[in-house]
Amino acid sequence: MRRRKTRIHRGLVGDRKLVGSGYLSRAELRQEYEAEIAPRTGAALRRIFGQLDFESGRPRRVLDLGAGTGAAGRAVRRRFGEAVELVAVDKVPGPDILVADVLRGVRPAGVSGRFDLIVAAHLLNELDGALDLDGRARLVAGWCCDLLEPDGACIVVEPALRDTSRALLGVRDRVLAAGLRVAAPCLSQMGCPALQRERDWCHDSAEVLVAGRSPVDFSYLVLRRSAPAEADPGRYRVVSDPIKDKGRLRFFVCGAAGRFELMRLDRDRSPANQALDQAHRGDIVVLPNAPVQDYRIRVVAESPSGLVSFFTRESTEITEIG
Ligand SMILES: C[S@@+](CC[C@H](N)C(=O)[O-])C[C@H]1O[C@@H](n2cnc3c(N)ncnc32)[C@H](O)[C@@H]1O
Repeated sequence: MRRRKTRIHRGLVGDRKLVGSGYLSRAELRQEYEAEIAPRTGAALRRIFGQLDFESGRPRRVLDLGAGTGAAGRAVRRRFGEAVELVAVDKVPGPDILVADVLRGVRPAGVSGRFDLIVAAHLLNELDGALDLDGRARLVAGWCCDLLEPDGACIVVEPALRDTSRALLGVRDRVLAAGLRVAAPCLSQMGCPALQRERDWCHDSAEVLVAGRSPVDFSYLVLRRSAPAEADPGRYRVVSDPIKDKGRLRFFVCGAAGRFELMRLDRDRSPANQALDQAHRGDIVVLPNAPVQDYRIRVVAESPSGLVSFFTRESTEITEIG
């Protein structure tokens, strides 16, 4: 039986009429948000944290921008411990919230010092009525330059809708042009290949092990001020679900040389490339010698193939929507 869509779901995912409206100041919408949407933020961040490393092992100070009901802060504490100093900013008051409007300047009123980790989860799309893409990119670049420790990381999460995801990719290219670096999910600092075709976008997926429910899709960036080494050209991020056609396995993958369709005919499945059977969206496949033709990588029986999965697939007991 299909579940009835709640107001918060309709307003943020469906007609999106609530976006940017201060909906969390209304008790019933806040309750719905906390029950339905906030757990999705937690699930997304748990996956992203699997790819983060800090010189000191863990972040000491964390800034949560557009904190809402505190999902990012809870995920931070769960992952990095209760000792983390957390500053949570939102324009709508709430428990432990520092009330400030992020549109009023790069450093929100009342926020001091620098942070090892900044999280802006589902905030940027709420600013698009006030700031165009250039403005949003300047704000993100400002957070990284003025609020982040030199070895810190800034995580930006956005809904995996085509428009919000493409907008995030647009922000990505602009902040890279401004000198920042993307540590994940991209394996390259070049312009995003998904922006070349209107129909493409990029998102990850956090598995939700509640029978019959869909996974939590999200788009994200991990930005840093200094560059990770340019990726090995034989490494590719899986940016689609596996497509199992008759007689072949396909994925879309993205790496230093661009975005490709990876294809292995079933008859070419071999011990050398069987790791591909386990590949999921978000994993990294390692294909040192696979032949590349136009936009297709053909994995043949002799192609050695490895798999790097950064994410532990956690069971997340959440109330799923959609
Ligand atoms: C979709 S919620 C995200 C909440 C939380 N980060 C999460 O992912 O669950 C967006 C949040 O951004 C806040 N917000 C929107 N515009 C803002 C602004 N100009 N300044 C500060 N917060 C803002 C909203 O009040 C809301 O709490």
